[in-house]
Amino acid sequence: MKITVVGLGYVGTVAAAGLSEAGHQVVGIDVDRRRVETLSAGRVPMFEPGLEDSVSRGLRAGKLRFLHRDDFAEPPGDAALIATGTPPTHGGAADLGQVRAAVDWVKSVGSEGLVVVMKSTVPPGTGRRLLDFELKGAGIRYASNPEFLREGRAVADWASPERIVVGVEPGDDAATEVVKRMHAGIDAPHLVTDITSAEMIKYASNAFLATRISFINEIASLCGSIGASIDDVSMGLAMDSRTGARIHAGVGYGGSCFPKDVRALDHLALTSGVEVDLLRSVINTNNRQRLLPLHALRQRFGGALAGLRVGVLGLAFKPETDDVRDAPALDLVRALVDEGVEVRAYDPRAMDNAREALPPAAALVPGVAEAANRAQALVLLTEWTEIVESDWRVVARCMIPPRLVFDGRNALSPATLEPLGFEYVGVGRSNSPLPRGRGQG
Ligand SMILES: NC(=O)c1ccc[n+]([C@@H]2O[C@H](COP(=O)([O-])OP(=O)(O)OC[C@H]3O[C@@H](n4cnc5c(N)ncnc54)[C@H](O)[C@@H]3O)[C@@H](O)[C@H]2O)c1
Repeated sequence: MKITVVGLGYVGTVAAAGLSEAGHQVVGIDVDRRRVETLSAGRVPMFEPGLEDSVSRGLRAGKLRFLHRDDFAEPPGDAALIATGTPPTHGGAADLGQVRAAVDWVKSVGSEGLVVVMKSTVPPGTGRRLLDFELKGAGIRYASNPEFLREGRAVADWASPERIVVGVEPGDDAATEVVKRMHAGIDAPHLVTDITSAEMIKYASNAFLATRISFINEIASLCGSIGASIDDVSMGLAMDSRTGARIHAGVGYGGSCFPKDVRALDHLALTSGVEVDLLRSVINTNNRQRLLPLHALRQRFGGALAGLRVGVLGLAFKPETDDVRDAPALDLVRALVDEGVEVRAYDPRAMDNAREALPPAAALVPGVAEAANRAQALVLLTEWTEIVESDWRVVARCMIPPRLVFDGRNALSPATLEPLGFEYVGVGRSNSPLPRGRGQG
């Protein structure tokens, strides 16, 4: 098949490379000329393990090309896969500007029989409206094919998804067939639904995962205040298939998907006149979680934190990515800087993106030891292996008492740290009750 992929971010680049490796002829399109040039040279403008190799293999095999939208002058092929961004508006809705521009462009270059495959996460109802208005009369088919890959494991997730969801107009076997051929060779069950249900599956998946995270975080707050261990409690839940795989308490979810998608679902409910109290609580709990380290610092050092030196370890929203979009670290660092805290932050991969997103007063330093240098407290926000497996003896020597470590991901072992002279505080761990002051709800 010949496939045109529109939008070369985390999803589009992974999709383009994966499809080319499966033997399809792929053209990746973007409006960012620098991005197109970087990819054409076999480099990837974001950190995603294995992606650069996959892109290079596609380029070398002659199966993959990247073009700026204005330089594209050929038929788009069997399918145009849309993977442009759907960032949040100020009101929390999904901004469909990039998606609409991409669909308009596809319509201008496409012809009858082409299938628009929507990979971008768009609110339920969007595909129906695109078919009824933007694509009406163009003879172009439409399939919703939501993407479930995880940054940091995107290449592997593309190759072995747990399911492939295809939403089409009832009876549009031709569109279904194109999406199935696109994924030929991938061993995963297909679920074929109507378009709006496929869109809802994506939102419901993210909202459910976000709910599980906020749920375990609320239970962690309770554990912390009554002296129970969240590690044991989450293990106990994970041993029952009805309550799902193990999930860790921490400073909350972040990234380019969960926060915006939960808010967009909440917004959709609002405009549909449907009450979704649970989703509201999920969002509120998550917002509170992000500031737990601030409350722990206030409790340990008294109300006024001005002049305190604090090292922040990890800025990306999770390990193995350089993505800092809506990362808990951004809210926390801003709050610390506002309090007059001297912040020294480090992340193994996300420094460039963080530099653009953080206030200039936050110093970005080249390593864990530099972040710890003469700091009275450290806050771990991303459980990178490099950070978790630091030489904590050295870190202890860099710091000054009381050497507080707030482990925002419950990734460290208090039994290792405390003998080295650290004061350890985790999230809902039995040895480290969380502060019960302001903001704990
Ligand atoms: N990032 C993830 O882990 C993930 C996972 C599943 C689904 N999604 C969804 O997939 C979509 C894409 O996410 P992302 O993180 O890859 O986005 P991104 O912001 O990283 O990339 C979007 C790309 O689209 C390009 N673009 C914008 N307008 C364009 C246009 N009109 N024509 C061509 N290119 C255009 C941008 O220059 C950018 O390179 C979003 O809807 C997101 O919610 C993301």
